[in-house]
Amino acid sequence: MVSRKYIVGNWKMNGLRDQLTNIAEIAKVADEYQAVDVAICPPVTLIAQAVTNFPGFAIGAQDCHFAKSGAHTGCLSADMIREAGASMAILGHSERRADQHETDAEVKSKAEAAHNAGLGVIICVGESEEERDAGKAVEVVCGQLEGSFPDGANVDWLTVAYEPVWAIGTGRVPKAADVEEMHAAIRNALRNLMGERAGGVRILYGGSMNGGNASELLSIPNVDGGLVGGASLTAEKFGPIIEAAAAF
Ligand code: PGA
Repeated sequence: MVSRKYIVGNWKMNGLRDQLTNIAEIAKVADEYQAVDVAICPPVTLIAQAVTNFPGFAIGAQDCHFAKSGAHTGCLSADMIREAGASMAILGHSERRADQHETDAEVKSKAEAAHNAGLGVIICVGESEEERDAGKAVEVVCGQLEGSFPDGANVDWLTVAYEPVWAIGTGRVPKAADVEEMHAAIRNALRNLMGERAGGVRILYGGSMNGGNASELLSIPNVDGGLVGGASLTAEKFGPIIEAAAAF
């Protein structure tokens, strides 16, 4: 059983050095709510500085390469991310699946590389609006999960994030019943992949989560936290989500 909520901020391609003060403020809020696990995934350029400035506060990356090293111009290996001080990485975000054409097989390799480097991983899955309208959402999401699932995955390093693509950055969130159905389906798929240990894997919801809807979303069965984009950039917006999670 999952006992602690996990709230993760995905800064995407936002944040220059000036915004380190936002992480300072977020870390302060997180400190007030010890019952919740909180992390921020800033751009890679801020990781080392954030880790130095805010010891004890979890900083993650938004991607890593699957190879250990080699001729991959512009890419970063999991060891590099780990050495910079990150403790985990978001992998297979729908923006990367779309913009960088990442496949399930690549996400699986990245997750294995990240784990081998000592990083926790958050594997993202989610359907498009067309797929939902066609009644295929559960099938698509569970298929992505099976294809992206790393060998040897365990509860102490694997987290799954369900992020309907059409809810990301749009202000639209699915009906509670649809979130409940999907998270139960993901739990079930995890059970098929890893047996009873699946009960301890945290399944986050992501897509337009904010201070106004966090309580309701986090109260849905099998919603063990949130992966938050836009509302994670400042303590003013992210703080109320952390506070909402602490109430469970
Ligand atoms: P959003 O992004 O909260 O801005 O919708 C969530 C995400 O993409 O992780």
